[in-house]
Amino acid sequence: MKLEPEQEGILKGGNGWIMAKAMETVVRYGEAFGAKRLVPIKSAHLAGTFGIGPFRAYIQILQQITSEGLKVKVPTTVNPRPGYNLNLINRRIAFPKQEHLEWLLKSIGITPNYSCVCYEKANVPSFGDRLAWAESSAVQFANSVLGARSNRNSILMDVCCSITGFTPEFGYLLDRHRRGQMLIRMDIRKMDASALGYLLGERVVDKVPVLEHYPFNRIELKNMGGAMAASGGVALFHVEGLTPEAPDLKSVFDAQPSATITITQKDLDSLRLRRPGVADMVVFGCPQMIYEEVLGLAEKFTGKKVRVPTWFCMVPHELALFREHELYGKTLDAGVSILEYCPLAALSLRLGKKHILTSSGKLLYYLKGADYGTEDDCLKACGVIS
Ligand code: F3S
Repeated sequence: MKLEPEQEGILKGGNGWIMAKAMETVVRYGEAFGAKRLVPIKSAHLAGTFGIGPFRAYIQILQQITSEGLKVKVPTTVNPRPGYNLNLINRRIAFPKQEHLEWLLKSIGITPNYSCVCYEKANVPSFGDRLAWAESSAVQFANSVLGARSNRNSILMDVCCSITGFTPEFGYLLDRHRRGQMLIRMDIRKMDASALGYLLGERVVDKVPVLEHYPFNRIELKNMGGAMAASGGVALFHVEGLTPEAPDLKSVFDAQPSATITITQKDLDSLRLRRPGVADMVVFGCPQMIYEEVLGLAEKFTGKKVRVPTWFCMVPHELALFREHELYGKTLDAGVSILEYCPLAALSLRLGKKHILTSSGKLLYYLKGADYGTEDDCLKACGVIS
């Protein structure tokens, strides 16, 4: 790989041994993927926000970074908190290092947004910006909906890029890897974007799917992308006539698509039937909900009482806005818990709640014992509609 003099200087130790090690890590990462150079990044997003025991090495490295007084070089946001103070098990057993980890992240200069939906307000990339983000759902939204460019970086690689300010140029940073590969047709009467994303992830795995035109809104794009990036390794999708790199089918494909897949209403419905049963708990918000999303949902709970524990998981600053709205109190009165945590982390160690119903394709994929329902299925399970 050819390095610029500034990069070479950092690698040789001109900015201290910790920075040299971070630069060496970034360079080796790039070499492994055939990158020819490093490029400056506009922002970073870190996924390592859970203070769990297996992150011992990660925490030690952050300690070394803080001991040298190093800070992030670019605006850097971070993923949600895990809900470590929700109960004794989470505090003592699951996330014993949480407070220390957050102190370390603050010391290196992160923006304390604590959300995977960083692209809404805290860290908004422009078209063409090169990024070093981790968190698959955020990477996918930045690539697909905003036209920015990031690979799916790992925990620690995101930190190394953030403190050096560089990332290797390969994969989704290059034009040739952003072209459409598979065409997706839809024979769907009632759209369920989260289920569609889940099924697409399973079927296209790591290809770049191009969906025929459908007027998805921003919330649907968020939830569809989050699911697609979990059940598959999709980091970029296009929607004909909607997302910025797909004004029409002709311009998004180099040649003919390698395959055409049709997703039907029956396919969507099949996801709801994989493990039918009675829900012990209902969870909304993975990726976390934004203000507009929670307003639409909250009005269904007005004047009702939930019959099973129900969680709304929200972006912290969107929750702050929601607290000012009259629906906030009404939602609490209905018995809903409104949280700013990642439900996956908060619920991974749990006692007594075996059967969790969710409208999130991402949570369905990752959370042991979760089942999928449309929003209406979930509302029925809560007992607020019949
Ligand atoms: Fe976000 Fe946690 Fe879901 S990081 S996408 S709320 S698993």
